[in-house]
Amino acid sequence: MNFLLRYLRYLVYSKNLHGIHSPFVYSLVKDIIYSKYSKPKAFDAIESIRQAYKKDFSPIDNLDYGAASKFGTGQNTISRVCYRSAKSKKYAQLLFRLAKWHNPDYAIELGTSLGISAMYQATGFSENTQFTTIEGHPGIALKAENAMKAINIKHVNIVTGNFNHELPKLLANLPQVDWVFFDGNHKKAPTLQYFEQCLAKASKNALFIFDDINWSDEMRQTWIELKKHPKVFITIDLFFMGLVFLNPREQKEQFTIRF
Ligand SMILES: C[S@@+](CC[C@H](N)C(=O)[O-])C[C@H]1O[C@@H](n2cnc3c(N)ncnc32)[C@H](O)[C@@H]1O
Repeated sequence: MNFLLRYLRYLVYSKNLHGIHSPFVYSLVKDIIYSKYSKPKAFDAIESIRQAYKKDFSPIDNLDYGAASKFGTGQNTISRVCYRSAKSKKYAQLLFRLAKWHNPDYAIELGTSLGISAMYQATGFSENTQFTTIEGHPGIALKAENAMKAINIKHVNIVTGNFNHELPKLLANLPQVDWVFFDGNHKKAPTLQYFEQCLAKASKNALFIFDDINWSDEMRQTWIELKKHPKVFITIDLFFMGLVFLNPREQKEQFTIRF
């Protein structure tokens, strides 16, 4: 099924607050997902970094560990990387709100890219959150690091390397994991592999967030597998992102919410 059809199906089946009977999901949607949270000053600083990236046409080599880009081949630039990989303001601000609400002790992001989503998450986390983000491209990871320094975003540990090697090492050194944002390598087998690795270390209340669950048929299949997984209880499909709750606080249920 192509992207447009998937989107039309989402528009038909997605619900707003009125269709939600679960108290936990109702309050999450009302207070966090639909919240008009007052915006911290850091948002302007992060968005000014995004604008600077968009105007940066310096070349960067193609080193893609993940699923092939839909945006064609040719010389890559920082501008192009920003346009095609950074989370939109709307979804990045949702990540911030979720980060603030969930307040994890140990958080991971797979796929730093230029650091836009990492900066939003870090702004939402408390100073006590141990947050690590992994990026395979050293040049891009360096840009992210410099951007965070420039706007004084602290408490982010950027690890450069392939998820396949770095994620197991990181997990081995953490007592547990409470939050994972999966935003790199949008293929089924590796995504499910990273999920299982994180699951083995997940705390009871862990929240796993999957980006681009409708990006391709393969990612849609991945999302379907995740929903069926016996350790997954509540899932929320927001079309461009999917939330996975592992805590059996309520019966297993799948939601598609208009966002
Ligand atoms: C979609 S981008 C991340 C965007 C970022 N989270 C944001 O919204 O600002 C995905 C990133 O994951 C990286 N990546 C994909 N597969 C990887 C792998 N197996 N190991 C390391 N990095 C990988 C890519 O280099 C790319 O920069």
